[in-house]
Amino acid sequence: MKIAVLPGDGIGTEIVAEAVKVLDVLDLKFEMESALVGGAAYEAHGHPLPESTLKLAKEADAVLFGAVGDWKYDKLDRPLRPEQAILGLRKNLGLFANFRPAICYEELVGASSLKPELIAGLDILIIRELTGDIYFGQPRGRRVATDGHFPGAEEAFDTMRYSRPEIERIARVAFEAARKRSKRVTSVDKNNVLETSQLWKDVMLDIAKEYPDVELDHMLVDNAAMQLVKAPKKFDVVVTGNMFGDILSDEAAMLTGSIGMLPSASLNSSNQGLYEPSHGSAPDIAGKGVANPLATILSAAMMLRFSLNQPEAADRIESAVKAVLASGLRTGDIWSEGTKRVGTREMGDAVVAAITKKTITG
Ligand code: IPM
Ligand code: MG
Repeated sequence: MKIAVLPGDGIGTEIVAEAVKVLDVLDLKFEMESALVGGAAYEAHGHPLPESTLKLAKEADAVLFGAVGDWKYDKLDRPLRPEQAILGLRKNLGLFANFRPAICYEELVGASSLKPELIAGLDILIIRELTGDIYFGQPRGRRVATDGHFPGAEEAFDTMRYSRPEIERIARVAFEAARKRSKRVTSVDKNNVLETSQLWKDVMLDIAKEYPDVELDHMLVDNAAMQLVKAPKKFDVVVTGNMFGDILSDEAAMLTGSIGMLPSASLNSSNQGLYEPSHGSAPDIAGKGVANPLATILSAAMMLRFSLNQPEAADRIESAVKAVLASGLRTGDIWSEGTKRVGTREMGDAVVAAITKKTITG
């Protein structure tokens, strides 16, 4: 088993180091190889996703990814910006199925800005289509308008598009996931306005026939954004397109107290996957040793479960994280009165200690 380790920019290097430390104590045989990605790769090789990094990622069974981006690259041409690295990896590896669980740990109920009773016990799964939609749709670009409200003016355009097979495969991913949970899927779209959303809904209804045991309902994206903060526990599996999923998954993250807790998995049809925290590179706190490594550590657990077929090792990491939270250790983002504030490295060490202690006591 081979893992490509791509720490990236900002806090990426610090948090990935902690996840690697955790993987190292599991006594599993895998090879890990690191490479530069994002702004770091641009600095060294002139491109955010160099050929060598892409090759390593393609050949690996799984990619452990930190984060990319920094404001200092905002002025670069779009193809050279750090974000293109993650978009390029998604596209080149065909990672169409993005899993973003939002789980509110009991110990962190107080860290959310929502009332505890709204989020206590929250456990929802957002499944975001990741290689289609307006993110990748052609044509796109800038030009001089020949029609519209201001002919002759500079304009920019993107194309939102989805094909039936693209929707079918993500629908199946969602229904299969629901079968392992509470057998409910909410499909989110904007079919009252958009053609792509109408096709999305039609296909969801078609695929639902293959899963008579799973209940499907539909929600418009604006309403879904509202319901997520009004009554988040009413959701279970949410399936949606690339653009809506980007927005709703950040919103869902905040229900859990901190985006610093949320892992994610992006899979292709051969279960090869990229695993990354749901948060970004946070350049404002980079290098300070205060970032929360738990989202990345939990992403490593998802990697063991989904791509490396090591569910027991994944359980060990997840229980260790719970034990560490129960012991009262908190990074700044999840700190509250009465808990102990620790840095990135101490948090990683605590997870390692919880895992190795479990091993000894059996
Ligand atoms: C995410 C991020 C990315 C996205 C950016 C960094 C391109 O926001 O993974 O949610 O928009 O998909
Ligand atoms: Mg996002």
